[in-house]
Amino acid sequence: MTIKKFPKGFLWGAATSAPQTEGHSLQNGKSKTTWDYWYEKAPEKFNERQGPANTSNLYEMYTEDCKRMQEVGLNSYRTSISWARLLPDGQRVNQEAVTFYRDYFKKIKENGVAPIINLFHFDMPMWLMEKGGWEVRESVSAFAFYGKTAFELFGDLVTDWTTFNEPIVHVEMGYLYGYHYPAVTDFKKAVQVGYHTLLAHAAAVKEFRAVLPKGKIGIILNITPTYTRSASSADQKAGEASDLLNTKSFLDPAVHGKIPQALIDLLAKHQLTPQTQAEDAELLKNTVDFIGLNYYHPRRVQAPQNPTLPAQTPEDLYEPYDWPKKRINPYRGWEIYPEALYDVAMMMKNEYNNLPWFVSENGMGVADEERFMDEKGMIQDDYRIEFMIEHLNYLHKGIEDGSNCFGYHTWTFVDCWSWLNGYRNRYGFYRVDLEDHYKRSLKKSGLWFKQVSQNNGYDV
Ligand code: BG6
Repeated sequence: MTIKKFPKGFLWGAATSAPQTEGHSLQNGKSKTTWDYWYEKAPEKFNERQGPANTSNLYEMYTEDCKRMQEVGLNSYRTSISWARLLPDGQRVNQEAVTFYRDYFKKIKENGVAPIINLFHFDMPMWLMEKGGWEVRESVSAFAFYGKTAFELFGDLVTDWTTFNEPIVHVEMGYLYGYHYPAVTDFKKAVQVGYHTLLAHAAAVKEFRAVLPKGKIGIILNITPTYTRSASSADQKAGEASDLLNTKSFLDPAVHGKIPQALIDLLAKHQLTPQTQAEDAELLKNTVDFIGLNYYHPRRVQAPQNPTLPAQTPEDLYEPYDWPKKRINPYRGWEIYPEALYDVAMMMKNEYNNLPWFVSENGMGVADEERFMDEKGMIQDDYRIEFMIEHLNYLHKGIEDGSNCFGYHTWTFVDCWSWLNGYRNRYGFYRVDLEDHYKRSLKKSGLWFKQVSQNNGYDV
């Protein structure tokens, strides 16, 4: 038997976020986010009316959770800070939040785990939303101030930071498809929101370089690699538009320091050009030391049947294509296509300067997972182990072929609350029992992951 080994020092970790785990959502000095607000207004939109108030109760359980990190062999862990907890009105620092985060980060480290701390994971504070949120330019300086505050308060404990998790998600869910608050459907506004987010990232990084010159900073992007239906020029054009909007919109500025000309031209053609200022171009340069890529599934596209000019929605530029050969995760509905991780690894090597990057989320969501519980109460999640092995195999091949990947984080460590989906899709190494005081119980995949981490690889 041979072991598929990963590079020395490889990060074996898991990711999560503040709003999805902490709970105490309206306690300990935290102010409301759009999630708290929206749940008050429209609880019926949330799966089984599970709102953001308590999530996984990490605020009370973090000491034990940090010990659990060892039990599943994590050497790295990503979570986020809640902006509305740290700066309840945007200016004043909430000392309770400082005490909580400092102790939490210390405990992570005491358990031999290196934290990677993110600033924004879909959780817009209401005080800023009321002023227009990412639609207004003021959001850029507000975010930079938040970043500076966090770097100053926690920079002695945390050296590796990220600014945003999946910035395109709050753009499309909030401003294109109407799922997340403010549930606007307006392509032009969506582009402006994306642009301000990009500037906010860059402005926070500028603060970072001044406060923590020895630290490292990056951004976490969800990668949904585009595969087109055919090689026809119409399908290829659709594929290019999808790539520009979904991948290159954030990845190119992050790595190459500028928005690609083809995207600028595409936006202009469809009257979607955002408002910019002369100094923006300089700000966008040199904003990452590494990239995190969240990979779950690919994007299959074809030429739109009835395109309009100018485009009203992205679907006027490319349409989803139902690939007949696709494999589906029956418990979540997403396509399973591990091969894409090799393509992503090669893309990073060949098109993005072989910049250091890591898989910052990958995982298998399962609804009604209690059906896989054995008589001792352990979830026998062999399907998840198999999912991870398949993805790691392609990642390994990419690393062997020279891609500069330094880690693999699963989504997630402990089952967590997930926005409108509540607790429907479970992803964790630990099950959370909502009926029994958020009790955690280890799943089989957690035991497996510990072995992988200890061996820095797995048997093939
Ligand atoms: C990731 C997000 O893309 O998907 C997480 O970063 C989210 O915040 C996760 O929880 C799983 O999503 P879902 O819809 O399957 O619960």
